[in-house]
Amino acid sequence: MPRVSLSVNGKPVTAEVEGRTLLVELLRETLRLTGTHVGCDTSQCGACVVHVNGDSVKSCTMLALQAEGAEVVTIEGLAAPDGTLHPMQEAFREYHALQCGFCTPGMVMSAIDLVKKNPQGLSEREIREGLEGNLCRCTGYHNIVKAIDAAQQVMHGRVKELPRA
Ligand code: FES
Repeated sequence: MPRVSLSVNGKPVTAEVEGRTLLVELLRETLRLTGTHVGCDTSQCGACVVHVNGDSVKSCTMLALQAEGAEVVTIEGLAAPDGTLHPMQEAFREYHALQCGFCTPGMVMSAIDLVKKNPQGLSEREIREGLEGNLCRCTGYHNIVKAIDAAQQVMHGRVKELPRA
């Protein structure tokens, strides 16, 4: 079987995979990183979003072999070693931006990429448009947008602490 070598959450990983193995399958089934979810398996829902070389990617649309040499970050890799949450995670918690939580890992990963790529800041409308590849089946978008708006202020250094909800 072919082998793939990559970095996952800062750790080197080598695994044997079939040619058809998806990146999300490698993460969840081989590496047991089950924070990355599968909601549709057809590139619709965004629950499987991870970062590949700094870009958000739906990991159900990418073969594991295509990640050869890549740096992959999953939701498990966001918090600091001492457990301090990433500002986006903290904002989702503070603003109650989750209901059932199924979409949350993908939402958080997409939101971080969106904010990083827009240092000028995003309007509410731009946040909503930027998240159009992520579906929340609880339809809890309102607080998700508020959380991302708060997190972008911290991530861009406009405030030191997350504005309280
Ligand atoms: Fe990948 Fe839905 S599981 S987009």
